[in-house]
Amino acid sequence: MKVTVIGTGYVGLVSGACLADVGNDVLCLDVDPAKIKILEEGGIPIHEPGLHEIVRRNVEAGRLSFTTDVEKAAKWGVTQFIAVGTPPDEDGSADLKYVIAAARNIGKHMDAYRVIVDKSTVPVGTADKVRAAVAEELAKRGSTTEFSVVSNPEFLKEGAAIEDFMRPDRIVVGAEDPQAIELMRQLYAPFQRNHDRLVFMDVRSAELTKYAANAMLATRISFMNELANLAETLGADIELVRQGIGSDPRIGWHFLYAGCGYGGSCFPKDVKALIRTGSEHGHDLKLLGAVEAANEIQKHVLVDKIVRRFGEDLTGRHFALWGLAFKPNTDDMRDAPSRVIIQELFKRGATVAAYDPVAMQEAERIFGDEPRLSYAGRPKSTLDNADALVIVTEWKEFRSPDFEAIKSRLKQPVMFDGRNMYDPALIRAEGIEYFGIGRG
Ligand code: UDX
Repeated sequence: MKVTVIGTGYVGLVSGACLADVGNDVLCLDVDPAKIKILEEGGIPIHEPGLHEIVRRNVEAGRLSFTTDVEKAAKWGVTQFIAVGTPPDEDGSADLKYVIAAARNIGKHMDAYRVIVDKSTVPVGTADKVRAAVAEELAKRGSTTEFSVVSNPEFLKEGAAIEDFMRPDRIVVGAEDPQAIELMRQLYAPFQRNHDRLVFMDVRSAELTKYAANAMLATRISFMNELANLAETLGADIELVRQGIGSDPRIGWHFLYAGCGYGGSCFPKDVKALIRTGSEHGHDLKLLGAVEAANEIQKHVLVDKIVRRFGEDLTGRHFALWGLAFKPNTDDMRDAPSRVIIQELFKRGATVAAYDPVAMQEAERIFGDEPRLSYAGRPKSTLDNADALVIVTEWKEFRSPDFEAIKSRLKQPVMFDGRNMYDPALIRAEGIEYFGIGRG
């Protein structure tokens, strides 16, 4: 099938490459010529395991190509995926200007039946706005070409996006017209595996499903974080509590890890947007307000511990920091707890030596020419002359660190573990003063 994907960001590129990989002819459109140039030259503007390989393979096979030509893109795919950004407005609602612009371009140039697929995370009711924008453009040129608007939210996790697309738990499709339903069924048939993963529903329910999923996951995390803080005061261990409750299938094991707060491009933005949608429709989503507030507090928990250990004034103190990305396997630092932690340390007069396997370039872009922040080529090199080690992201390479180096190179062996990576008893047995999250 010929497929157009509009937007070569994270979601667009992963979707385009995976759809090409199962045999479709995919054309990816972006209005940013610099991005398209990088892609045409074989580069990938984002860090995602496996993405480079799958893009290269499909470009070489002639199934995946890139363009800035909106007319060509509108005339290419019978399915037109809109996967452009929806940055939050100042009030927290998703800004739809790129989505609507993409819809207008389709309406301006399409010359045959099109299924327009909303892939971007968009508020409930957006499909109606997309439909209206396309219809308006068609009407301007007196066209009666038919089209359908479908909602097909993505559930990709950064760092595991290819796997998530190729082997999905479920594929949610909100579609009401039979022709569109049939096309979506065909398009996703190669991803079905051993049982039906396709969940068809009305468009609004599909739009809400995406927000519901992320809001539920964020709620679990904030719940565990609040409980962790309580456990600490009570002398209980949140890790044991997690094991104790996770075995109940109604609760399950996933997304129960307490830490120094959630970040990334989805949870913070989607929780805010859902609260906003609620208030626009007269519903005060109190629980989600609390989820968000608890997460803001949690991003400060590590610094609170540092202050309790070293005092409010950290002038002259220096900290080793491991992990800048909001989670492992990505260079994404959007809403990353590391940003809050670094700023809070600066505010109190400290300096930081940071290491991250892939996000240091991104940190340089964010922090610019910041003399209080230095970067090291290896985790160990951050330790020299530091007052303590602060772990913010649970990269695999931190799981088994060189404890001798931590003890000998830090000024004194103190560790703040924002991701509960280690067994406190083992670390303490090494002679390291250990502070985890909710570890009794
Ligand atoms: C998330 C959803 O998982 C995905 O389905 C959706 O499409 C986009 O949003 P992502 O933001 O890539 O994906 O990362 P995810 O792995 O879900 O982690 C989000 C944040 O929660 C990270 O900051 C992570 O550190 C934190 N987290 C996750 C916890 O603090 N505890 C947990 O138990 C799990």
